[in-house]
Amino acid sequence: MNVTWVHSLPTGKETGTFLTIDLGGTNLRVCKVTLHGESAKNKDQKYDIEQEQYKFPNSIKSTNADELWTHVAEKLEDFIENKGLAKEYDDKNKMPLGFCFSYPATQDGIDHAVLQRWTKGFDIDGVEGHDAAAQLRAKMEEKKLPLDLICVINDTVGALVASAYSDPATIIGGIFGTGCNAAYMSSVSSIKKLSPDDERLKDKDGNTRPLMAINCEYGAFDNARKVLPWTKYDAQIDEESPRPGQQAFEKLSAGLYLGEIFRLILVEFADRGLIFADQEKNGNEKLRQRYSIDTGFLSQIENDETEGFTDTRGMFRDVLGLDVADEELEVFRRVAELIAVRGARLCACGVAAICLEEGITEGHVAADGSVANKHPHFKKRWAKALDQILGFDSVGEDQDPIIITSADDGSGVGCAIIAAMEMEDRLQRQAA
Ligand code: BGC
Repeated sequence: MNVTWVHSLPTGKETGTFLTIDLGGTNLRVCKVTLHGESAKNKDQKYDIEQEQYKFPNSIKSTNADELWTHVAEKLEDFIENKGLAKEYDDKNKMPLGFCFSYPATQDGIDHAVLQRWTKGFDIDGVEGHDAAAQLRAKMEEKKLPLDLICVINDTVGALVASAYSDPATIIGGIFGTGCNAAYMSSVSSIKKLSPDDERLKDKDGNTRPLMAINCEYGAFDNARKVLPWTKYDAQIDEESPRPGQQAFEKLSAGLYLGEIFRLILVEFADRGLIFADQEKNGNEKLRQRYSIDTGFLSQIENDETEGFTDTRGMFRDVLGLDVADEELEVFRRVAELIAVRGARLCACGVAAICLEEGITEGHVAADGSVANKHPHFKKRWAKALDQILGFDSVGEDQDPIIITSADDGSGVGCAIIAAMEMEDRLQRQAA
């Protein structure tokens, strides 16, 4: 669990214009976010956002630090130029920048983030053990970009803050996507890693701030493999990953891995001659290719309501070049369901653990990520599991005391709000 130096949820009054970057799994997203706060004409539209997605080159996941930050700085430069921002900002008047860096990081302050380890299949040399903010700042200086890096945030904290900006009932920000994780507001007195006398916790009047957002990093839960049952497929995924032994919980439940678990099961069935018997003889390359099946594939299997499941059959043909027999189809649908149910129930365990530990009994869990947003049954299964753990009298998932909601844009808007709160805090401290 990591401290984040975000000391409060927003008031909803935060304003200003910010640049944000999000170093995601497949894209680099750059946004210009304008927060309207209370002056928003429409309560449902409290911000404006202009954004660009830059697809990472395939090689980026295993490049080195210098190439990574050069790439990021080039895209920032590109955005600044395309949006005409160089006319408004220069070396003396820099544009505030928020950086959403969704990997486990040790933060000594809000503008600092030492990467503990890459997750989600990233394996870029020279960043682990270093301050990602300092590395990016150095590249921005080299390129003379008129940007001032104000904060580094985790995507879960962004989801929590962005959602609380318009929904004060928000209690937790959760990401159920390529990776899995959640953040919540904790009382500072219960954070054992920090002494309440730590100067960094003091506000402008010298009082210790009462709250801090905690980035749980529960994707790393049970790395010692003492608690959760593992299948041999889980073990194989772990062994073949760039960081064996890490992110144990995430490898059982997050989007990056669900499709691969499905593929490994199919490969075993095929090896045992149980499926694709004739087709295997012709050599099936695609099924044997690691990560050739993604989680979207599983979502589509479970979402298929066509007669005779023609969509699923078409997908097997298009993605894997395989024809599926009726009995095979039945088995595949059941396997896809089992994998997704396990994933959703584990995701509920993570949130339930926070609620039990913190004594949270009501509120909204603002969720983002491809699994939460795109899997047809995730939210229902998640809610059912939460009901069972927390013992709600299930009155229907929308009326439970703790419900899952769709998070607002954490890595863009959330990141901008946190930058706004930090800048306001700096002003107050200077004035004091
Ligand atoms: C990272 C977390 C992140 C989560 C969701 C995990 O792999 O360790 O920092 O919040 O993915 O993106």
